[in-house]
Amino acid sequence: MKSNHTGNETSGGVTRREFISTTTRATMAAAAVSAFPFVARGRVVGANDCVGVGFIGVGGRGNTHLATVQKLIKGGENLKIVAVNDAFRYRLEEAAKPTGAKTYAKHPELLADPAVDVVCIATPDRLHVPQAIDAIRAGKDVYCEKPMGHWSQFDLARSFCEETKKLKRIVQVGNQGNSSPAWGKVKDLVQQGAIGRLQHVQAGYYRNGDWGERMPIADPEAKPGPELDWEGFLGDAPKVPFTVQRFFSWRKYLDYAGGPCTDLFPHVLTPFISALGLNFPMRVVASGGIFKYTTYDREVPDTFNMCLDYPEKASVVLVCSLANEYTSEPAIRGDEGTLTLQNAGGWESGFDSITVIPKKGESKVVPGLKTESTSLHWLNFIKCVRSREKPVSDVEFALKVQAAMCMAMESFLKERVAKFDVANLKIVI
Ligand SMILES: NC(=O)c1ccc[n+]([C@@H]2O[C@H](COP(=O)([O-])OP(=O)(O)OC[C@H]3O[C@@H](n4cnc5c(N)ncnc54)[C@H](O)[C@@H]3O)[C@@H](O)[C@H]2O)c1
Repeated sequence: MKSNHTGNETSGGVTRREFISTTTRATMAAAAVSAFPFVARGRVVGANDCVGVGFIGVGGRGNTHLATVQKLIKGGENLKIVAVNDAFRYRLEEAAKPTGAKTYAKHPELLADPAVDVVCIATPDRLHVPQAIDAIRAGKDVYCEKPMGHWSQFDLARSFCEETKKLKRIVQVGNQGNSSPAWGKVKDLVQQGAIGRLQHVQAGYYRNGDWGERMPIADPEAKPGPELDWEGFLGDAPKVPFTVQRFFSWRKYLDYAGGPCTDLFPHVLTPFISALGLNFPMRVVASGGIFKYTTYDREVPDTFNMCLDYPEKASVVLVCSLANEYTSEPAIRGDEGTLTLQNAGGWESGFDSITVIPKKGESKVVPGLKTESTSLHWLNFIKCVRSREKPVSDVEFALKVQAAMCMAMESFLKERVAKFDVANLKIVI
C-alpha cells in the first residue's frame, strides 16, 4: 500500500477519485444483493413475553453485547440469547459455549430462525446496513452498531431508514452515549437560556495509540473455507484476495472503515445533535491525513478535523488526534454564555460536570453523571420492542449523524466541500 500524508492513494495505487467511484458503484449493487427473499411480519412481542435475541458478529463489540444481555437477564429482564452468527467459526463457537445458543454460519440462516425476535449487529461497518435490511425484511427488530453504515453507503442507509418506517420495525443504532442521562442536563441548561442562542460547539476525541485500527490478528494461519467466510466479510466491498490483515484488522482499510471520523466521532456528535436539537448539516468540510502511523499498511487517517455548519445557524467543529491523550474541554457557545464539559473523554458514558460561564457574572458548576450506557441503550431498545415507540437512537435520528460522517469522509477524500440536499436527503459534492 502506498499512501502519502494526505491519503491520496489507497491500496493498489488507486486514487481517491477512482476509489470513490468504485465504492459508489459497489454500494448501488448492494441495494440489489441485500434483498431478503421475502418480507415477514415478525412476532408481536407482548409486554410479558420473553424476547429471543440473536447476535450477528461476535468479535470484540459483539461479546460486550453478549455480556450486557447476560447481565440484563440476571437482573430480571425477560430476554433469552437464542442464536449467534459469525464469519469466523472459532468466535462463533466460543460465543455459543456459555449461552447454549444455536450457531449459524451465515446471517440469513439466523434470520430464518423463528425463535429470534431481535438481532444485534456488530459486524464490520460495511455489513451493518445490508444485514440490517435483511433483518427487518425477516420481521426482526434490530440493535445496529455504530456507525450506522460504511461511509460510502449513505444512499443505502437512507433506503434502510425508509424501509424501517414502512415495515414498522424498531431499530436502535448503537450510539449508546445518547442513553446517558448526563446529556439531559445540557439540554435543560440550553433550553433554560444559560447560553442564549446556540452558535458554536467545539469537541474532539484524543487517543495515545492506534490500537483501535491495528486490531489483533486472532489466527495468523487462518484461511477462507468452512472456518472463515471471506465472501461474507467482503459483502459489497471490492473483491480482493484474502489476507489475515484485512479480515482481522479491517479498521485500517478504507474499503471497510473510515478511521476516527466514522469510528469515534459518532460517539462525540450524537449527543450534541440530540441535546441541542440539530438536524442534517447543510455544509461539511474535513481535513487530516496519516500524520503519525506512516510505517504500515494503514489507509485510514490518524488525524481528522471536521467543520459542520447547521441550518440552525450553528457550527460544530470536531477534531481527532492520535498523537497523545491531551484533551481540550468541549465547549458549547451561545451569544449569552458558554458551557464546558469536564472529563468527557469517554464520550459513551457522559461527563463529570458542566461549567456554566455566563457573558456577565459568576460561573457555576453543575454536577454531571457518568454511567455505563450500553445497558441503558439496550433497556431503551427492549422497552421500544415491546411498546413499538421510537428508541432514542432510532434510524431517522441516526441518519442525521450518518449524513455528517459520510459528508466529512467525502469532503476529506475528494478535497471538496460537501453539501446536503435536505429535500431529497442526498449528499451533493
Ligand atoms: N458502540 C461502541 O462503543 C462500539 C465499540 C466497539 C465497536 N463498535 C462497532 O462494532 C462493530 C464491530 O467492531 P469490533 O471491534 O467488534 O470488530 P471485530 O472484528 O472484533 O468483530 C467483528 C466480527 O464480525 C465478524 N464478521 C465479519 N463478517 C461477518 C459476516 N458477514 N457475518 C457475520 N459475522 C461477520 C468477524 O468475524 C468478527 O468476529 C464496528 O462497526 C464498530 O464500529 C462499537
